[in-house]
Amino acid sequence: MSDHRPAVTARAPAKVNLLLQVGPVRDDGFHDLVTVFQAVSVHEDVTATPAADWGLTVEAAGGADVSGVPLDGSNLALRAARLLAERAGVDEPVHLHVRKEVPVAGGMAGGSADAAAALVACDALWQLRTGLDGLATLGAELGSDVPFGLHGRTAVGTGRGEQLVPVLTRGSFHWVFVLDPAGLSTPRVFAECDRRRGPGWGPPPADVRLEAVEAALRGGDAEALAAALSNDLAEAACALAPQLTRTLAAGRAAGALAAVVSGSGPTVALLTASAASAQDVVAELVPVVGQGRLRTASGPVPGARVLEALAPGGQ
Ligand code: C5P
Repeated sequence: MSDHRPAVTARAPAKVNLLLQVGPVRDDGFHDLVTVFQAVSVHEDVTATPAADWGLTVEAAGGADVSGVPLDGSNLALRAARLLAERAGVDEPVHLHVRKEVPVAGGMAGGSADAAAALVACDALWQLRTGLDGLATLGAELGSDVPFGLHGRTAVGTGRGEQLVPVLTRGSFHWVFVLDPAGLSTPRVFAECDRRRGPGWGPPPADVRLEAVEAALRGGDAEALAAALSNDLAEAACALAPQLTRTLAAGRAAGALAAVVSGSGPTVALLTASAASAQDVVAELVPVVGQGRLRTASGPVPGARVLEALAPGGQ
C-alpha cells in the first residue's frame, strides 16, 4: 500500500477550435480532420489521492452544471487513471476529485481535459515519468482531444484530431464564451454534418484556410484571426440547436470580432480585440443571455501540468 503518499493535483485546459475542417466518415466511424486547437484559460483540476478502491467525486466551479457527469467507471478521468495503472503495472487505486470549470458537453473538450489531468496527476503520484509522448499515446485511446489537453498551447490537429504539430503564436488572444445549458452530443453533430452533406464528400483540403489561421497566429493579429475562423460543424450544430444562430448574432452585435461555434457546440466562442474589449462584450451580453452563461478566457495556455506534488518526505 502507498497510503502515506500525498495527493497530487493536475490542471488541464479547455480548447477552442480556430479552424475545424471535417472530411468524410472513416471505416472506424471517426472523421479525418484538419483542425487548429487553442488551449484557453478555463480549467479542470483533478486531484488523485491513494485510496482503498477506485472512486470519483465531481465539484462544480465557476457555475458549471455537473449533473450530466458520469461518476461510475465510464467517467473519462477514471478510465484514464485505470488505463495508465494497467499499462504501467501499478496496483494502487486512487480516488479522483474533479473540479470542473469547463462546460459539460459544450464543445470545449472538458471530459478530455479531465482525462489529460488524471493521466498527469497519476503519473506523478505513482512516479512513473511516462513523458508527454507516452501519455499522449495513451490519451489517444481515450478520446480524440485528450492528446491536445496534454500538449496545450496552439496546435494543428490531423487524423481524428490526435496527431498534433505545434503552431507558432505571438501574444494572447482574448475570448468570451457563451455557454448553452442544452449541451450537444458530439456523435450527433458529426452525424448531422454527414447527413447534410450526403455521400461522396471528399477529404478535407489542406487549403488556404489553414494558412490564413497560421499567419494570423504568427502575427498575433486578432482581426486577421477573426476573419480566418471557421468550423465545418457549425451548420449541423445550429440545425440541432437553433438558438445558436441567435447567440452567434448577439455576440457579433455585442462587439466581438468574430463569433463561432466551439467544436461541436453548443458553446459559442467570441474572439475579441483585447482583454478590455472582452469585458465590454460581456457587459453588452449580460442583459441578453445572463451573467451565468458568460466566461472570459485567454489563450494559448499550457497543457496538463501538476499544480502541487509533495514527494514522500516533503521533497
Ligand atoms: O474521440 P471522442 O471520444 O472524443 O469522439 C466522440 C465521438 O465524436 C466519436 O465517437 C465520433 O462519433 C465523433 N468524432 C468523429 N470524428 C472525430 C472525432 C470525433 O466522428 N475526428
